[in-house]
Amino acid sequence: MCGIVAYIGKKEAYPILMKGLERLEYRGYDSAGVALMQSDTITLYKKRGKVSELEDYCEQRDTSGHAGIAHTRWATHGEPNEQNAHPHLSEDHRIALIHNGIIENYLSLKKELLNRGYKFLSETDTEVLVHLINEMQQKNNVSLEEAVLLALANVEGTYALAILSVDNPDQLILAKKGSPLLIGVGDDDFFVGSDGAPIVEYTNKVVYLDDGDVAVVSPDKGLRIRNIRDEHALLKKPNYQLLEMTLEQIEKGGFETYMLKEIYEQPKSIRDSMRGRINLQKDIVSLGGLIEYEHKMVNAKRFIIAACGTSWHAGLVAEYLIESLVRIPVEVEYASEFRYRNPIIYSDDVLIAISQSGETADTLAAVDLAKRHGATVIGICNVVGSTLARETMAGSYTHAGPEIGVASTKAFTAQVTVLTLMALSLAQKKGSISKSKYHQLVNDLESIPEKIERIFTQEEHIQKIAQFVATRPNAIFLGRGINYPVALEGALKLKEISYIHAEGYPAAEMKHGPIALIDDHMPIIAIATEQLTYDKVVSNIQEVIARKGTVISIVTEGDTTVKGMSKFCIEIPVTEELLTPLVAAVPLQLLAYHVALIRGCDVDKPRNLAKSVSVE
Ligand code: AGP
Ligand code: GLU
Repeated sequence: MCGIVAYIGKKEAYPILMKGLERLEYRGYDSAGVALMQSDTITLYKKRGKVSELEDYCEQRDTSGHAGIAHTRWATHGEPNEQNAHPHLSEDHRIALIHNGIIENYLSLKKELLNRGYKFLSETDTEVLVHLINEMQQKNNVSLEEAVLLALANVEGTYALAILSVDNPDQLILAKKGSPLLIGVGDDDFFVGSDGAPIVEYTNKVVYLDDGDVAVVSPDKGLRIRNIRDEHALLKKPNYQLLEMTLEQIEKGGFETYMLKEIYEQPKSIRDSMRGRINLQKDIVSLGGLIEYEHKMVNAKRFIIAACGTSWHAGLVAEYLIESLVRIPVEVEYASEFRYRNPIIYSDDVLIAISQSGETADTLAAVDLAKRHGATVIGICNVVGSTLARETMAGSYTHAGPEIGVASTKAFTAQVTVLTLMALSLAQKKGSISKSKYHQLVNDLESIPEKIERIFTQEEHIQKIAQFVATRPNAIFLGRGINYPVALEGALKLKEISYIHAEGYPAAEMKHGPIALIDDHMPIIAIATEQLTYDKVVSNIQEVIARKGTVISIVTEGDTTVKGMSKFCIEIPVTEELLTPLVAAVPLQLLAYHVALIRGCDVDKPRNLAKSVSVE
């Protein structure tokens, strides 16, 4: 996905736009561009590469103007280069447009426009929009707003748009369908962003646009919203909300990178995920957002969990938690696979969609599919007001605070915390665990933050291990039981920020093929904490060592057995087996972080990635 920023008002637009792009760059960063309204022309600058390269380019150029749009791209159609960067201009240079999303029918639209003589400068799907809107305005002799409504009626796909027009220099036009877009309302100006990060410094009064909305903002005429789904496209009353984000939350707070800040925030974010949800006086754990659906969940025949990436790993942890505590079957699905395999979904199924951003296209599509089959759909999400939060029947926010680093860290542990609370709450209502087990787990859960704090004291030791791992081209992560998803998550962290190929495997599976990979070059990171199958993990580690594998182990404090077999060992505090993922994930996050730093990688903005993939 990309980052969209726009401004119109009395201030100079350029500084607001550039700072906004910097704050949104985690959403996509292969190229960037800005268009400014300068008297009766649109001035456009765009560059391949990061926002800083665009800023360097604009240094000596005219960046005046009180209205503008700016975009940092994550390419879907057309390689990352200057031509394909946004904004895109109409042929007469009277309209500039930026877009987040995918125009599914762009090829047919492009063919028709080419046949009508339009010339395209880029390979993007986006460019069809600016020509289509221009054509609608010329052909029908209507306002830009009407032209946008007419054009979008022919468009299939997803979009968040910001449009600037020479003919309407005192207004911005915005449109939203399937990609996020919100408007910040200032005293006499408007701020637009793909999320709150570019807005929060100026105002916390916002309007989250809904699918189908076309909005016009103008300092003199205010905010006007219509919806293309309304046949008369009558005016909609804006739904003003308060932005739940602070400037301090989106700054680095003295840390070198967002990722390190967010790793260290985990004791706090886990406490925030639990806040107000464990009431020991009344002896209950409850997630307010799910109360209305608890009956359906306790009586569900099956849970389906749909998610992507790290959130999918949190779903796998939830499978162990729910089946162990609530005794209801759970299926965990890659959302991207689930949505296209014509799955069997019953009306008494409960689908739990897990997404940090709440904007992941595949996860949203899985939600839509389940809803169409009459299932109950619950969302576990970190971004208030996100599409997932609005498309699900109920849900729980993880309250981890904004996660800017592309590699998910605190969002993962916050997701697992909320899923643990959910499993405990359902188990208590179902009577599927004893009161003593319930109280023990609740107490252990409340002790997790300080266990994580103790891991931070080992950061120097982890940095030394990273020196070793950083020299290796591959790595294998092993875990058993509820630690198998942690092995997957550790592997994902390493590969997505250090670019070392890494795989996560169930420890016992090594014998069925991957053990052929073991040699003295292959580091094996084994999670061998206290658990039911500990002895089996020890045997698996011995099998690796017998083949000259180098073992790096995550063990429970005081373990001497596995420690004695390992080249390196990281000890974590004694933790209840079902809660181990919350603790064992943290040393793996730090290991990946330091390996990436040693290898000179950009840990906050890894190559080819974006924070949330709101396109397919
Ligand atoms: C995790 O480190 C990745 N950045 C990625 O796998 C991410 O978890 C995935 O894209 C899902 O994002 P979501 O949680 O916002 O839906
Ligand atoms: N599909 C558009 C492009 O490839 C927008 C991508 C994005 O959301 O950044 O340029």
